[in-house]
Amino acid sequence: MKKILFVCLGNICRSPLAEAIFHQKIKEEGLEEYLGCDSAGTANYHVGEKPDPRTIAIANKHGIPVDHQGQQFKRVHGEVFDYLVAMDQSNYNNMISELGGEKDSLLLMRDFDPRGKGEDVPDPYYGGTDGFEKVYQILDRSLDEFMKYLKDTHGL
Ligand code: 4NP
Repeated sequence: MKKILFVCLGNICRSPLAEAIFHQKIKEEGLEEYLGCDSAGTANYHVGEKPDPRTIAIANKHGIPVDHQGQQFKRVHGEVFDYLVAMDQSNYNNMISELGGEKDSLLLMRDFDPRGKGEDVPDPYYGGTDGFEKVYQILDRSLDEFMKYLKDTHGL
């Protein structure tokens, strides 16, 4: 079982949405035995909380259930997870600090985006509903590519 952790700042908007979308893709591909995913935030502001209501609404609008409780990213996650996927460059840098250095398993979400490689997944927290739809579209297409990458890499 390969384990993937999606990481943002608050763990209530981008990373729980990535987790929910990717979990759905894993189910659709029938790969639950081989792939698992979770999410975390580099900050501790929302530990124990449900995702933002706008995150849940945008996922449900696309037929995707959300089930997550906020947790903070910790060094130990680097040992437990095979892939650590940061939503933006700031998350990426904070993760390197927490991990005590670079790690091969540390990736940037939009390195898998066919449109906008290496850019940040924009933080939708202070914006409106349109920002959540934009994030959904970015994540959906990036996660399709990430799924292809995992299938190729692990012969799934
Ligand atoms: P996220 O968005 O990192 O995508 O979950 C944010 C959520 C909360 C805060 C910032 C970003 N906050 O400052 O509380």
